[in-house]
Amino acid sequence: MHDYLIAPSILAADLAKLGQEVDDVLVAGADIIHFDVMDNHYVPNLTFGPSVCAALRKHGVTAPIDVHLMVKPVDALIGMFADAGASWITFHPEASEHVDRSLAMIKERGLKAGLVLNPATPLTHLEYVLDKLDVVLLMSVNPGFGGQKFIPGTLDKIAATRAYLDARGAQHVRIEVDGGVGPGNIAEVASRGADSFVAGSAIFGQPDYKVVVDRMRQALAG
Ligand code: DX5
Ligand code: ZN
Repeated sequence: MHDYLIAPSILAADLAKLGQEVDDVLVAGADIIHFDVMDNHYVPNLTFGPSVCAALRKHGVTAPIDVHLMVKPVDALIGMFADAGASWITFHPEASEHVDRSLAMIKERGLKAGLVLNPATPLTHLEYVLDKLDVVLLMSVNPGFGGQKFIPGTLDKIAATRAYLDARGAQHVRIEVDGGVGPGNIAEVASRGADSFVAGSAIFGQPDYKVVVDRMRQALAG
């Protein structure tokens, strides 16, 4: 059983004052910072890159930074994000020509590595790379935008992923869920076996981040 991690997605933050937003959400009790990288190629939106990650480190952020790459190709950004202070790097298997190599590149830099599965992407992508995975990020929306509705079929997929990992001796691999998660559904998401929860609009869309994070923790505590 893993500790629960609450991972605010800065996609929904006020980017004009990003350093302050990250400080505020960490003071409010968040565990890690979810950093959504979009390239207007793999997904139809464009966000931020390694220089912004480095700027957060320079600003003094010491919490883990969980870089979710929605980019194609993947490999050129791995070293750049490692240099920029990333802690976790996850990517979509469809976006890398050589998934095993991309995972090895992340691990060689001493970072936590993970694959991201879109709502329609099967678990079979995990099969031959389990030894390189620290986390599986399950998308509960189609990637590209914040503020979308949680796709209910994800609940069964979370349970199937937990069972799949456990059956293969990979109990240590985290399951993170991304998209449409908030205080109203986090308990159900956790009950199926997720342990890490990305929340963008649910947190940054509210005036008091601590109130939301506390509500999420209370829901998790049952
Ligand atoms: C979507 C991103 C998510 C997004 C989640 O492509 O990967 O991390 O920011 O936003 P919410 O929590 O608003 O659904
Ligand atoms: Zn994300």
